[in-house]
Amino acid sequence: MDIITDIGLMHRTAEAIRQDGRRIGFVPTMGYLHQGHLSLVRKARELSQVVVVSLFVNPTQFGPREDFDSYPRDLPRDIGLLEETGCDILFQPAAEQIYPPGHSTIVEVRGLTEVLCGASRPGHFRGVTSVVTMLFNIVRPHLAVFGQKDAQQAIVIRRMVSDLHEDIEIVVAPTVREPDGLAMSSRNEYLSSRERQEAPALHRALQWAQARVEAGERRADVLIEGIRQQIEKASSGRIDYIAVVDTVRLRSLEILSGEVLVALAVKFGRARLIDNIILNVESRGTPESAEPSGSAEAPSADGE
Ligand code: PAJ
Repeated sequence: MDIITDIGLMHRTAEAIRQDGRRIGFVPTMGYLHQGHLSLVRKARELSQVVVVSLFVNPTQFGPREDFDSYPRDLPRDIGLLEETGCDILFQPAAEQIYPPGHSTIVEVRGLTEVLCGASRPGHFRGVTSVVTMLFNIVRPHLAVFGQKDAQQAIVIRRMVSDLHEDIEIVVAPTVREPDGLAMSSRNEYLSSRERQEAPALHRALQWAQARVEAGERRADVLIEGIRQQIEKASSGRIDYIAVVDTVRLRSLEILSGEVLVALAVKFGRARLIDNIILNVESRGTPESAEPSGSAEAPSADGE
């Protein structure tokens, strides 16, 4: 695996690969890699000839009171994992090169970024879309792989690529979970052992919602309330949001239909965990056909 830190060299290398007629698959990351990241690398490997992974903890997507300084980092371990997984080039630029003095351009996707995670992290998505645009311009990928775990991020990036007429295919890969259902995240590192035990409640609550929808429930408020109750019962986490939205405009739905994103964010101490599921809801289910609200009550904390 080659490690490139210089932007000019990355540019020239990408150009040479393209001249050669080989497809570049790209996975942007902030490092401290886990199996979720590595699944994206494998996906890029499947779909392209040259896999580039970037590792850059992007300061502009962290709020002033967020964890930029303490974000976990372990470069030697990341390099080992990437080598094992079949990454060809690790691009690891310096912040001073990405943001030289005088840097003043931002890329902002309006409308999709003020809701859900954007509501409690103002400016976060502007930081993400700006840095991802720069990384796309430097790495010149044919395709880029993002994780479903950050569903809103993937939806915002797709919108951006479409709006800017960028010739890049965006691939979204499924969320990789720990055996107990907790979505893998670099920030799981922050959880105390008690919080770590409680954290799978998020996934359980989403699974409960999925089961309710499969049983015919179509009312968003019933699902949101059930999810809320379960998380509050089973954990000390503080709920930031629970949302039921469409997957294109991220507008809140009252009645589920079509492709629906059920997403949530919960704070455990200094860890803010997010998770989601996407449901394909048949429109023939109507509120009338759903069971009465009494039966939609959340089960007890331990599941049943
Ligand atoms: P980071 O949090 O490091 O995530 C990098 C990629 O890994 C993202 O596409 C994210 O959705 C994906 N990912 C994280 N956990 C996952 C899991 N459990 N299963 C599947 N995929 C998972 O997201 C970022 O970095 C940054 O915002 C970035 C796009 C690099 C811009 O700075």
